[in-house]
Amino acid sequence: MEPMGIAIQHMFDGIARRYDFLNHFLSAGRDKAWRKKAAGLLKGGEGGSFRVLDLCGGTGDFWKTWADMQSAPRPAMGVIADFSLPMLHQARKKFQAPPLVRMDALKPCFKPGTFDAVLCAYGMRNLDSVGSGIDEIGRLLKPGGMFITLEFFRPTTIFTRFFYNGIAPLCIPFLGWFFSSRRQAYTYLVESIRGFKSAAEYRDCARDQGFKDVTVIPCDFGISHIVTAVKG
Ligand SMILES: C[S@@+](CC[C@H](N)C(=O)[O-])C[C@H]1O[C@@H](n2cnc3c(N)ncnc32)[C@H](O)[C@@H]1O
Repeated sequence: MEPMGIAIQHMFDGIARRYDFLNHFLSAGRDKAWRKKAAGLLKGGEGGSFRVLDLCGGTGDFWKTWADMQSAPRPAMGVIADFSLPMLHQARKKFQAPPLVRMDALKPCFKPGTFDAVLCAYGMRNLDSVGSGIDEIGRLLKPGGMFITLEFFRPTTIFTRFFYNGIAPLCIPFLGWFFSSRRQAYTYLVESIRGFKSAAEYRDCARDQGFKDVTVIPCDFGISHIVTAVKG
């Protein structure tokens, strides 16, 4: 793994225990609604062989949101993959998680065409190369498989610029320090959003990697975005 990737892994290892609490607190609970909206867009979950990968799955909230929306008996097989063991450990503690796999998103350990769908919430921003990450996801999907991204993108509107360039740098590192003693991690959170692709650039990147029907859906005036794409 690149040195940057190792540093990011250590950062997530360090915040794993307080991650869920701060996630919900800093977003005033909106992260739950955003995951629900994104998970609801995943079609075709019927049948025991429908395989879903929650990539950069962390403490498992995205997979759990989606799995809870499925009718019982559980119609799908899931895997949560992440490179931080402490994050996966939290998933294991929280619920009866599907198989948990420690894996770098840029070096997946699954065969091509293993999954019907890949979900990734707030993970793509952390990868050393977004283009390579999307390329790997395309390889893991079956033809026609769906890729759903939930992410904070570089702000481009007056409102999101004010939020991410004005309010967030003042409040988020302080609150992160106050509740988890990890100011650095929450400074990184804001910086990584401001330095990431815009939603439109990410859509173009997915198209360049061979995805079709790429659709961008803003949530709460663009604070967060959902991007759906289909493997061509
Ligand atoms: C902001 S958290 C999101 C966790 C979860 N998806 C959620 O919705 O709360 C980002 C996660 O991505 C993981 N991650 C970052 N880079 C990764 C990589 N290259 N390979 C695998 N996991 C990675 C981190 O360990 C962390 O758990």
